Amino acid sequence: MKYRIWILIFGLFSIFSGYAQYIVPGEEWLDTDGNPINAHGGGILYHEGVYYWYGEYKGGCTYRSPGVDWDCYRTDVLGVSCYSSKDLYHWKFEGLVLESDTLDPQSDIHPTRVIERPKVIYNDKTGKFVMWMHIDNYNYRVASAGVAVSDSPVGKFTYLGSMRPNGQNSRDMTLFKDDDGKAYHIYSSEENSTLCVSLLSDDYLSHSGVYTKNFQNRFREAPAVFKRENKYYLVTSGCSGWDPNEAEYAVADSLLGVWTAVENPCRGKDADKTFYGQSTFVLPVAGEKDCYIMMLDKWCKTDLKESKYIWLPIAFNGDGLTIFWKDRWLLGNMTSALLGEK
Ligand code: DGJ
Repeated sequence: MKYRIWILIFGLFSIFSGYAQYIVPGEEWLDTDGNPINAHGGGILYHEGVYYWYGEYKGGCTYRSPGVDWDCYRTDVLGVSCYSSKDLYHWKFEGLVLESDTLDPQSDIHPTRVIERPKVIYNDKTGKFVMWMHIDNYNYRVASAGVAVSDSPVGKFTYLGSMRPNGQNSRDMTLFKDDDGKAYHIYSSEENSTLCVSLLSDDYLSHSGVYTKNFQNRFREAPAVFKRENKYYLVTSGCSGWDPNEAEYAVADSLLGVWTAVENPCRGKDADKTFYGQSTFVLPVAGEKDCYIMMLDKWCKTDLKESKYIWLPIAFNGDGLTIFWKDRWLLGNMTSALLGEK
């Protein structure tokens, strides 16, 4: 009896202290200071034993942009936040590594503008951390890509400016650095009808001019890319603003394509809505074979800063991949997490 009481006390202590270390998809996730993690549309850089999670730091009110006839909500983005972790459960707030420019209303990064989906990669040749992000205005007509650079993963990043890569507009985006050091910018283009994969210059600060157009007229966004056993995978969403829709994954032998669309990787209840999430990044867990985490945003479009995060393990079956909903799961136990049961 006494023994059971001690187990109960330990269980309750674990749950309330965070010691249990579960990933709990879709629920509030607190940083090590006890504040909700504010890093939306984010991505993770693994550098020298530490994970750095960068994302949109949303603040203020969310409002529907005037004169726009679709769900064009926006909120003040105060900059790009960074959180660091060694275990992927506990995240320390490192501050705003790229801060909004509150002084110049014309600046790309003024709080009234839109900064979305920031991603950071490290350039081994220059020793610089390079951030790319979607830059826009209230009605999403600027559709450009911005770039910033830093000597440290925790900033501060210096904003260098924005451009329309390869002469076309650029909205949802991600970055991918391959094993050979080449890096790519993957972005929704041509009014979101096409997904471009563009090789960056050696310093990662501009586009090389080498690029491909993929999934033409298929309107895919929210790209998340990863590599496994010499195959490249790309998870995307459809285009429905902040509302969830069905995900799709594609496979290729080269990042520049040809990409073959496969199917929705999600299974079970709400799979057709990506479990009410939208892809943002796939994180390979360092040193673990076949451990990849699908990172999704669960947008709250009427109060965007309240949006949550859904992290789920990816299961592989040959070249195919599947994602099951989990109420909670343990990183160290991904094999059982992959079995499909709750
Ligand atoms: C969907 C995109 O994936 C989001 O990042 C955001 O741009 C919304 N559209 C805006 O409606």
